[in-house]
Amino acid sequence: MGSRTISHHALRQRSERYRYAGIMRDQAVNLHLSEAHSSLARVIAVTSGKGGVGKTNVAANLAICLAGMSKRVLLLDADISLANVDVVLNIRGKYDISHVINGHKSMTDIIQPGPNGVQVICGASGLDKLADLSDGEQRDLLGHLSKLQQETDTIIVDTAAGISRSVVSFCLASDHVLVVTTPEATAMTDAYGMIKVLARKRYQGPISIVVNMARDVAEGKRTYQRIADVARKFLGRDLYFAAVLPWDDRLCTAVRSRKPVVLAYPNAQISSSLAKLAARLSDARRDGQVSGSFFRKVVKWWN
Ligand SMILES: Nc1ncnc2c1ncn2[C@@H]1O[C@H](COP(=O)(O)OP(=O)(O)O)[C@@H](O)[C@H]1O
Ligand SMILES: [Mg+2]
Repeated sequence: MGSRTISHHALRQRSERYRYAGIMRDQAVNLHLSEAHSSLARVIAVTSGKGGVGKTNVAANLAICLAGMSKRVLLLDADISLANVDVVLNIRGKYDISHVINGHKSMTDIIQPGPNGVQVICGASGLDKLADLSDGEQRDLLGHLSKLQQETDTIIVDTAAGISRSVVSFCLASDHVLVVTTPEATAMTDAYGMIKVLARKRYQGPISIVVNMARDVAEGKRTYQRIADVARKFLGRDLYFAAVLPWDDRLCTAVRSRKPVVLAYPNAQISSSLAKLAARLSDARRDGQVSGSFFRKVVKWWN
């Protein structure tokens, strides 16, 4: 009787275990399916009209803040004319995508580890050649790049300045474009020029303005408002306000000592504003995203 009770009990336990395993398996399947739906990293392009407005610093520091929030982040330096990200993050970028294209390196060889576990692809000059590759080569490379997009949560693209074809292609392929400007009239005019091109090309994602080197928050907000008003009136586009970042000598000191400002001076206002922006970006729902493989779209817009 005792043993029957025990075996009954054991049976019940076993069936419970199976039921539990079944639930777990179903959950795993569900999880897998939901992951499959949202497995592509969100791509944020950091751009501007004018050079020297702070794109690289914004991109690198945002990447570090996002990585600090347990996001898997890839920082792609798409400025092929100037070495940038490697300087700000003190990374020795010996290899780039061109080395993958010519078959000398694999994708994992060219990714450099940055602060907080940010993965960095330095001065991606090879991306310039994507459009010139044969169909087979293009397919292979895009396969590698798309895999990267599946293995990260966010890709931050630091673009070159100006409205060249390659910069515009990167922006059009992104889920979100951050346009960096300063309160200076020329920077604002050039920022608007970039926004105009994106609007004309019917970019669907959100466009947000970061005002850098502002004397104070009021000046930064005025700068945003002026660009936003013109874009609304002449392009029928709403621009989002992303952040006002103050002029801060400590950023220059940080750059000179090759340390990102959010790590060198975490308590500076510029660092907390960057952290706040990163938090907002990471919270942002994926609404309005362009969706699909970023790198495939870069090539599509390029051609
Ligand atoms: N908020 C700021 N305060 C002070 N100097 C800044 C600020 N942002 C950028 N700078 C200066 O401008 C330089 C260029 O910044 P960078 O991020 O390389 O611009 P971009 O990538 O747009 O060319 C930096 O090295 C730094 O000296
Ligand atoms: Mg730059």
